Amino acid sequence: MHRLLPNAGPTTVEKQLDSYRPWEQAQAERPFLAMNFASTVDGRATIGGVSGPIGSQIDTAMLVALRTRFDAVMIGAGTMRAERYSEIGTRLIVVESGPGGRVELPALLRSLREEGVRALLCEGGPTLHGSLQAAGLVDELFLTIAPKLSGGGVPPRILEGELDDVIGLELAWLLEEEGELFARYRRR
Ligand SMILES: NC(=O)c1ccc[n+]([C@@H]2O[C@H](COP(=O)([O-])OP(=O)(O)OC[C@H]3O[C@@H](n4cnc5c(N)ncnc54)[C@H](OP(=O)(O)O)[C@@H]3O)[C@@H](O)[C@H]2O)c1
Repeated sequence: MHRLLPNAGPTTVEKQLDSYRPWEQAQAERPFLAMNFASTVDGRATIGGVSGPIGSQIDTAMLVALRTRFDAVMIGAGTMRAERYSEIGTRLIVVESGPGGRVELPALLRSLREEGVRALLCEGGPTLHGSLQAAGLVDELFLTIAPKLSGGGVPPRILEGELDDVIGLELAWLLEEEGELFARYRRR
């Protein structure tokens, strides 16, 4: 694997994540929150209704390694329905509506922080991502861009829903392996 930015040179998934310590950036009222997504070059977040065919084995290795840097993983109900999430080796939180309607996300994050969750990795999907970004709750975005075009009018992008303002991002790192790009963005 090559690191293109910053400081171009050889790297590995392990080396990149070794010094990545998101729990140190937890806020008092909520965990540090990073999103992880994979997309095709034409911006699709699913192929045939699931995300698995998008990324390579390295993408899977990156996700598995990323999970070890976080106290818990969070997904939305739509992702739970579409993807196979059984035993992922860490705590899994599924955001789903209850009798009171949609989950109040700031309150959920506050209670997770009170329980001791300092760093939370959200693996989607696009609707939950939109809600979290709209509420200003996302600190970072890990995005794999697979060298593929999938077409189709229906597949979602990595974020669905309205945002009041455009959100500016800065590129924290960019890695490459066999044409697949692994970007890490920080909210400006
Ligand atoms: N490419 C990738 O990296 C990637 C990653 C993840 C998912 N995906 C794909 O995305 C698709 C699923 O998309 P999706 O947008 O439906 O999934 P989602 O964001 O995981 O789930 C959305 C659902 O979460 C529940 N929810 C409860 N409170 C919410 C709140 N405050 N904000 C947002 N959602 C809340 C709602 O379901 P209820 O009303 O049922 O409670 C809502 O419909 C699947 O095809 C999956 O394969 C792709």
